[in-house]
This record gives sequence, C-alpha cells and structure tokens, in this order.
Amino acid sequence: MDHKIAGALKILTHTDKEACETVKVTENEPVSDKKRLFIESYGCQMNFSDSEIVASIMREAGFATTSEVNDADLIFLNTCSIRENAEQKVRTRLKQLNAVKKRKPGMLIGVLGCMAERLKTKFLEEEKMVDIVTGPDAYRDLPKLVEEAGTGQKAVNVFLSREETYADISPVRLNSNGITALVSIMRGCDNMCSFCVVPYTRGRERSRDPRSIIQEATDLFHQGYREVTLLGQNVDSYKWKSAEVNGVSEEMNFARLLENVARISPELRIRFSTSHPKDITDEVLFTIKKYDNICNYIHLPAQSGNSRILSLMNRTYDREWYLGRIDSIRAILGEDCGISHDMISGFCSETEEEHQDSLSLMAYARFDFGYMFSYSERPGTPAAKKYKDDISPEVKQRRLAEIIELQQKISLERNLRAVGKIHRVLIEGTSKRSEEHFSGRNDQNKVVIFPRENFIAGTYVDVLVTECSTATLKGHVVSKVLA
Ligand code: SAH
Ligand code: SF4
Ligand code: F3S
Repeated sequence: MDHKIAGALKILTHTDKEACETVKVTENEPVSDKKRLFIESYGCQMNFSDSEIVASIMREAGFATTSEVNDADLIFLNTCSIRENAEQKVRTRLKQLNAVKKRKPGMLIGVLGCMAERLKTKFLEEEKMVDIVTGPDAYRDLPKLVEEAGTGQKAVNVFLSREETYADISPVRLNSNGITALVSIMRGCDNMCSFCVVPYTRGRERSRDPRSIIQEATDLFHQGYREVTLLGQNVDSYKWKSAEVNGVSEEMNFARLLENVARISPELRIRFSTSHPKDITDEVLFTIKKYDNICNYIHLPAQSGNSRILSLMNRTYDREWYLGRIDSIRAILGEDCGISHDMISGFCSETEEEHQDSLSLMAYARFDFGYMFSYSERPGTPAAKKYKDDISPEVKQRRLAEIIELQQKISLERNLRAVGKIHRVLIEGTSKRSEEHFSGRNDQNKVVIFPRENFIAGTYVDVLVTECSTATLKGHVVSKVLA
C-alpha cells in the first residue's frame, strides 16, 4: 500500500486546538414577533452544553435565538477563565459589543459562566456596559435577572449550588448537526489541582440523576442523534446513590452509567470526557471493551511527565501511576485505542530535565493528539498563593513549541497506522473544505474525510483510509453499514 501524506491538509496548531479559541454562537430561529437572544460561548464543552440549557430556559421565557448580534435585544457571553488569554478575549469582545449597544439603546448584555463567577460584582465595576452577571449554577434565575435589568438595575446571581444539575431541563441543541450531542452528567470539581480555577468557578462536584441522563440520551436517539458525549470535569468520579427503599439504596458509578447508556441502542455511539488519571478504573476500561458502541477513545490529561511537578500541581498521581494507566489501556483495549492528553509547559519551578520528562512521557504514551498550553497563573488558585510563576514567557513558549512539535510527529505516526485499514465512520456532515466530501469520525475520534457520493449524514459507513495528515484521515467508502 502506498502511504501518501496529504501535504495540502492543514496541520493543527495549538491555538486551533485550544478549547478556549473556539467560539460558538446561537442559531437563527425563524420567528418574527419575539425578543431576540444572541448567545456566544467560549471555553470547554461544559460551557457549550450549558448554553443549550440557557437557551432552553430563555425560550420558555419567550425569547427566540438569533445568530446575528445586530438583531439581538439580549446578548449573553458564556465565558471561560481557564487562562489569562481566555479572559482577555472576552474583554476585547465586550468592547466591540459596547459599540453595538450604543447604536441600540435598550439592548441588554449579560456575562455568564466562569468569568462571571470568578469576578462576581467586580465585573460590573470593571465593565460598565454589562447589565447582568450570572454564575454557572444560577441559570434558572436568568428570566428574573433579565427582567430586573430591563428596569435599569444591575442584576447579579453568582450563587454556587451543591445540588443544581439542571437534570429536568431539556437542552435546546445549538450549532447542532442533528447527529452528535453533548450530555452533561455532572457539574463542578472537587479536585484541587493547584493551577486550576475551575473548582472556584464551578463549585463542588455533584452527579446528575442517572435516570434523567438515560432519558435524555434515549430521546436524542429517537430524534435521530447517533452519538452522545457524556460530559464532566472528572467523569470517572461520577457517583449516584438512589433514595432508600426499605432500607436499601442503589449506587451507580461511571462504569455502570456507561453500560446503561450503551444499552439504549447499538446504533448510538457513546463518548465521554474528561477522565482523570487517578479515577479511571479497569472496570471502566472493561466496559468500553464489552460494548462496541462505546468508543475506544480516552482523553487522559497528563499536565506534566515529572513526579515532582505533578505533586506541586496536586494532581495526586505520579509519573509511574500515569504510565501504568496507559499500560492498562493498551493491555485491555489494544494498541489502537485512541488516547489524547493535556500538557502544561513551564509550571512554577519546572527545570529543563523536568520538561524533558514531559516529552519522554509523551513518547512513551504515543498520544493520538493533545491540547497543549503554557502555564498561566490564575489569581486565587493554590499555585498563585504558594508558588512563584518563575519560568519566563520565552522559556514557557519554547518548551511549549517542543511539546507541540513532538506531538505532531507522534500524531502523524499514529495516523499512519490507520492508513490501509478499514474504519467504521459515523457521517457527521459536509467537510469544511469541500462540499464534495463528507466528514465523520472513527471509533478512536479521528476525523475521516471521504467523497460524499450518495451517502447520508447520520449513517455509518466503512471507509478504507488511503492517506493522512497529522490531523485527518482520508479515504473512500468500501461499504455502507446496514442499520
Ligand atoms: N478537568 C480536566 C481539565 C479541565 S481544564 C482535567 O482535570 O484534566 C482543561 C485544561 O486546561 C487542563 O487539562 C489543563 O491542561 C489546562 N489548564 C488549566 N488551568 C491552566 C492554567 N492555569 N494554565 C495553563 N493551562 C491550564
Ligand atoms: Fe481543574 Fe483539576 Fe478539576 Fe480538572 S480535575 S477541572 S484540572 S481542578
Ligand atoms: Fe473554561 Fe470554565 Fe470550562 S474556566 S474550560 S469554561 S469550566
């Protein structure tokens, strides 16, 4: 087999891949007499999923969504605080929106999500044109807050809850291809990774009632969706205990939840994110193995390959533990199981040798891809309080460039393994680059592009992969999979 590498295909850079670089906006609802809401979402999939809950709450309150900021009566920015540049992006956007607001008196602007939670009322002092500030657990209050703001008062609710999971709210699917959907299974995070702002912006960890999760996934399947991604900051610590009946209560862990969702239909693919290396169990790995429709793909953030740095980061595992988890994944799910990672360069006091440990961990694990960042100190986090951010921006950037360069090499090697083989692909829609091609993903979460011919989005096809780049596989369909 001639393994051709498509030179023209774009190589993903870290900024393309950085979750916070992705922005999603609401779509246009074709109604004329309602007030219009525009939501722009930044950050991780949890935020995108939350925007769907917000859209649902606001539709109930009589708003229609719009994809045109100039048509909006109400603008929500669902924000991210994970790194300094994520917040910077929102501030720049607010300045642009100020100009829109000046042209349209009466228009309201609300800041939602992690930045709202982090800055609370300070946001109103810093950004005078903001009318509403709402944290991630207070979205049910939004209609009331919007009403209040309509009378000229500033409206704020940043209360963090120990119970709120929005379990009963049926999300409005935004930016949807009608085929893949996000399903939130838990909220918050109880880990205290020293660099991370999430425990402060999203509050305590809580799991959603499994019955509502299974119901939502079942409804999605009946609506024609063929893939759900179960979402949480740390899905492997999912835990639910039912109410006691005659002194007995039932417990559900993540492996059992996965199994229950997988049983909805063999036609429904299941993905999940994010797994924490300390919590992912062999029981989860064996459950993935048992069900063909649970995808062989694990996002397992490492953050560093050095045990001293991991300890300063309070990740609660060391290098050996992490590598042991990789070994178990390969032993139970095989060499081809897709694995991706997150890595941070230049954490406080990181030496050159310790940076080399991150590179050697990547070389050992052979990740299919990664999300790679340079350390950004976040105010109020344990690292900001205890350690000096003492690695210069130049060194952080150089180390990051080395990490990215190595990852691209490994990604290409991993993708070359896929060439010459047949992959089952769920067709998601037209390829971004060509109307003539369809795009979908294989089991391992790799994007596969092929000529669309007469195939139909939302169905499964078997694709023989004949070429690849660092980011994509290309090929042609060899057989359609009958439902
Ligand atoms: N819950 C997930 C991560 C959520 S945040 C986990 O535990 O792995 C997504 C990623 O952003 C993290 O994995 C980390 O790599 C990165 N990140 C978080 N805080 C950061 C900071 N202060 N500077 C740079 N990167 C950071
Ligand atoms: Fe942040 Fe750590 Fe929680 Fe992930 S597990 S959200 S990195 S505190
Ligand atoms: Fe950002 Fe909040 Fe997600 S900080 S990464 S939007 S949980």
